Amino acid sequence: MLKSIILAAGKGTRMKSQTPKVLHKVFDKTLLGYVIDAVNETGLADENFVIVGHQAEKVEDFVGENYSNTKTILQSPQLGTGHAVSMVLPYLIDYDGEIIILCGDTPLITSETIKNFVEFHRNNNSDLTVMSAIFENPTNYGRIIRLDNGRVESIVEEKDATEKQKSIKEINAGIYCINWNKIKDAFSELKTNNAQGEYYLTDIIKWGNEKGLSVNAYILKDNEEIYGINSKLNLAEASKMLNRRIINVHLANGVTIIDPDTTWISPETEIEPDTIIYPSCYIEGKNKIGKNCKIGPFAHLRGDVILEDNVKIGNFVEVKKTTIKSGTNACHLTYLGDSEIGTDVNIGAGTITANYNPLTKEKSKTIIGDNVKIGSNSVLVAPVTIEEGANVGALSVITKNIPSWALAITRTPIKIIEGWVAKKLGR
Ligand code: UD1
Ligand code: CA
Repeated sequence: MLKSIILAAGKGTRMKSQTPKVLHKVFDKTLLGYVIDAVNETGLADENFVIVGHQAEKVEDFVGENYSNTKTILQSPQLGTGHAVSMVLPYLIDYDGEIIILCGDTPLITSETIKNFVEFHRNNNSDLTVMSAIFENPTNYGRIIRLDNGRVESIVEEKDATEKQKSIKEINAGIYCINWNKIKDAFSELKTNNAQGEYYLTDIIKWGNEKGLSVNAYILKDNEEIYGINSKLNLAEASKMLNRRIINVHLANGVTIIDPDTTWISPETEIEPDTIIYPSCYIEGKNKIGKNCKIGPFAHLRGDVILEDNVKIGNFVEVKKTTIKSGTNACHLTYLGDSEIGTDVNIGAGTITANYNPLTKEKSKTIIGDNVKIGSNSVLVAPVTIEEGANVGALSVITKNIPSWALAITRTPIKIIEGWVAKKLGR
């Protein structure tokens, strides 16, 4: 049996934000959400505990609304990482399984790594396994102190380290797997006699060794996974890393992405092979994109977008909550929201679905049948249906349903006044 503890009580001062650190988002998922999902996706844990403190209520609400297998526990005041873990003691009096401890501010951790880590812990009959990583620049991390025979002896925090210890490049990633019954007594024995005057979780390593328990370290392969968020800069970097991961999966699946550096694709977007994403596209939320589509450059898909095969979404086109069937083009300067659009439709440049009534605050649907042609710069005032094969003349404001194969046109006829300019100029 396995349960997890996720530390999320810290202040996050450097975020300079009214939002608790772990509720900041990458795409539309919170940092804490990534960590809980990674744990849940392993299928190993039956229950998670999130330690909350700073702005506890907001984090409690988030967890309560989204995760039925996850409890929040208040840590107040916050006296260190060891103190944070000790908050679960009353909840796990009779528990006799494993506990994995993680931080709520490392959103790039993967379920695969967590699985491998737990497997390593089990295969080595370990009582306490700490995840370590080799960092060229280990500054600010706790350092892993190993004995000559390679055994992990203790962890020393940067602020407590000697110069020699500071030169160690193996750092504490802050993720642990422990056999609860063997280690739990450590939490009532931790001391605060260190540079920060805190109860250090890291001291359980030394404690375990003193009790003759099996203490091991698992070296992380991809350092990116424990990238921690402490500032908005870190948040931006983590977003880029996550995005790059997603893009690499799409590339491997046969999607053509011209410029990964300027393309953003949310984790919940599915794309079929041979679709081409041109530079500077932002694709957020949950979307399904078929084969041989062309998206961008400069397109914005805002979620709940379904594109069948061979759809073209061109530059400066924004699409939201819309289904577009195969062979349809919306090539330039268009907004399509709350719409259902058929096959082989042409949406002229500058077409807008006016889906929002600001007086009633209601959103309404635009339904466009197969083979419809919408002339440039038209406004389709929803709710409205344009039936199969109908044409809309350029610059029309469509406020009524249009029957199939009809022409709808609302512009006033063009007036040509011969010689008007010449007369003004006196020629
Ligand atoms: C900790 C480790 C360090 C490791 C690093 C990895 C300790 C003493 N040090 O250092 O060895 O290299 O993580 O990132 O554990 N938290 C609480 N309650 C508290 C204090 C912290 O919930 O009272 C939470 C924080 O919100 C954060 C996590 O614990 O999510 C880690 O705390 P932080 O202060 O960032 O630890 P570090 O100093 O980075
Ligand atoms: Ca810290």
